[in-house]
Formats: sequence, structure tokens, C-alpha cells
Amino acid sequence: MIKIKTVDAWEILDSRGRPTIAAALTLDDDTRAVISVPSGASTGRAEAKELRDGDKRFRGLGCHQAVINIRERMADALKSESFEGQEALDARLLELDGTAAKSRLGANAVLAVSLAFARAAAAHQHQELFEYFASLLPSPSPRLPGLTINLFSGGKHAFGQVAIQDVLVVPKSGSSISGNLAWMYDIYQEAAAIIRKRYATPALTADEGGLAPPFANSSEMLETAAEAVNAAGYQLDNEVALAVDAAASHFVTADGTYRLDDHILSAAELIDTVCSWAERYPLVSVEDGLAEEDWSHWPALRQKLGDRCLTLADDLTCTNPARIQRAIATSAANALLLKVNQIGTLTEAKQAYLLARSAGWRVSISARSGETEDNWLADLAVGWAGDFIKVGSITQSERLAKYNRLLQIEHERSFA
Ligand code: PGA
Ligand code: ZN
Repeated sequence: MIKIKTVDAWEILDSRGRPTIAAALTLDDDTRAVISVPSGASTGRAEAKELRDGDKRFRGLGCHQAVINIRERMADALKSESFEGQEALDARLLELDGTAAKSRLGANAVLAVSLAFARAAAAHQHQELFEYFASLLPSPSPRLPGLTINLFSGGKHAFGQVAIQDVLVVPKSGSSISGNLAWMYDIYQEAAAIIRKRYATPALTADEGGLAPPFANSSEMLETAAEAVNAAGYQLDNEVALAVDAAASHFVTADGTYRLDDHILSAAELIDTVCSWAERYPLVSVEDGLAEEDWSHWPALRQKLGDRCLTLADDLTCTNPARIQRAIATSAANALLLKVNQIGTLTEAKQAYLLARSAGWRVSISARSGETEDNWLADLAVGWAGDFIKVGSITQSERLAKYNRLLQIEHERSFA
């Protein structure tokens, strides 16, 4: 049993300068753990609801009420209580909130306590955090994830200069994290040089540290990524692949068509465009190739992409077991982007994960565009044996905190 002594929380700022929450939990043996939670911008409508103050401070984005909910309501209920483990704690949190979307206490408040408990329990049991995360699964097999690294940004993370949100680099061989990051550095530098020359602009970066030049359209973003890989001296496909997060929920129109850059496309035309990218470039995955409620077209996207590239669901599934179940039943996707704060507790994220795995899906463990310097996500990706981790670019400390933690785990541990 793990007995909680104190629960505390305070407001901190995320990588966009917006408020988010740090929480601290002390156990009865005085083990103390502090954790912080991220926040998205390109959010799915089915996500659990963050509680924001909505007053003048921080233009409505303050987390004072969510912090008070932790310090008062949650602390009062949890103090001096003992829990058998994560599931029992998370069940108590769900009971305290009592809403489907965690809107009463706030999904940000609930997740902060769920994760603080995880870190405290790991320390209490003298486990690395990734070992603790692994121990939550029925058959733990921790391993280092493949990297999917943001090179170019568009969409909501880059003032919408092009419709699609990310083009990512996926190093294939040279399987160490440190080797892959060294390759990525070369590719990033070549991309920055191409941009300076072609657009006569400095290499300005977007929310996740990706480069965001004034591309004429989404295809140019992909073509330039391929060019940067070649210029860095790596073989496209054999050594380095690409991936796309279209984030199409953010350019769907009210009548169900899509505004891809300057063109209005039907869902079928967007599917054809996405498939033409997958034919032209070695894409490992296309994330949110269609909008979050476009359930009727996702199966066609999945079918047309076939085995060539993963049909990766983010806004569609929102790490929500019910939505994942629907996506499995309709063959709408074959890979899950897992973001713990889309659902709000570690246990529900685990259910989402296990459901996806039971259908044979691949899993990518993802950060948010508003991140903190905390590195728990790297431990989660290792502990839950994510096929991929998606953290953003190789710049900005909130991103590097996760890569640097992976480097530490790689250095200290060897996985079979
Ligand atoms: P976010 O989006 O801005 O909601 O974190 C990231 C993503 O779409 O993968
Ligand atoms: Zn996404």
C-alpha cells in the first residue's frame, strides 16, 4: 500500500508562456515527487477538458482554480489515504471528479495528481520511472522507441502558413538514440541552409521548434524535407524516412470539404493527395489525414494507404478507449498517437494503449505543443515500449528534456 501524506500544486508556465500545473505529492515515508503537465493547441474536440480560469489574467488561460482544486478538494480526499497502486488512485480521482470529460476538477488537475502519484510510487519502490510505467502493463517489455522528429511546422503551430501541421524525420537504421539525433542535427542544419537561401528568411521556428518558412504549399514542405535529407548525405527510405501530421481537423470546412492551402478538396480528393505523398516519399505514417469526425472516410484512407504507411489517429481517437474501439471496429486506422492528457489519467491511457495493442496497432507516444521541462514522457515511451516517440524538434529545452532523458536511459540500460 502507498500512503499519501500531502498533495500540493502551483501554477507554472509552459513553452508558450501559458499557465499549466506542477503538482507535488509526499508519501508517508517522506518520498516527495514533483511533476508537471503539458497542454495542446491543436486539440481534439473529444479531449478531456482542461480547467482554465477564463478571467482577465493570462487572457483567460490561468490555472488558479485547477490548482485550488488540487490543494483543497483533492488533497482533502487523498491525504492520509492508502492506495494499492495506480489503478486504485486513478479510480478515486475519477470518482472525485465525477464527469466524463473531467471538467469539474479539470483534466489538467486530475492528470497532475495521477502522474505525481506515479513518480512518487516509483521512487518509493526504488524503481526508475520507466520501470514503474512498464510494471503497470500485463506483460512489461520496456525498450527505446523510434524517433519521429519534427523538421517543418505549419498549421496551428506556425500561424497556418501551410495547411498541414508537421513534416517529421524518421531515422531508420543506426538504431541508437544518440546516432539518430546526430543524423537529425545534419538534416536540420541542411534544412535551415536551404530555407535561408530559397526564402531569404532566417530559420524561424514554430511551437515545437520546427522550422516554419513561407512554403507555397504543403507539398513543398514535404519536397524540401526530402531535399534536406539528401543534402545531408542520407539515403531517403533506406536510412531516413519521413512522416506527416496533417492535423486535418484544423482545415476541414463546415460542409465537410477540406481547405488544403489554396484548394478546396473533397474527402476523397484529400485521400488521393495524401496517398500521392505516400507514393512519392517514404512515409512511415500519416497522422490525422482526415478530420476527427470524418468517420465515414477514414476506412478508405486506411485502405488506400494500405501497408505502405501507417494510418495514425490522434484527434480521431483522442486516447479515448471508446473512440479507439470504434476506430478498430471500422478499420479506420492502424496506429494510435497516445497523449496522456487527452484522457486525463494514467490508467485510462493504459486502457487506450492496451486496446490499440490488442488490435495489433502501432503506438506513438506523444508530447504536446505546449510542453514543460519535465521529462516523464520519455520514461512513458520506454516503459510502454512505444514504437515511436513524438516530441517535436531538436531545439528548445522542453523538447530536449525528453531526448536527453532517452539518451540517459540508453546510456545506463541496455534492452534486449
Ligand atoms: P497539440 O498537437 O498542439 O494539440 O499538442 C500536436 C499534434 O497534433 O500532434
Ligand atoms: Zn496530431
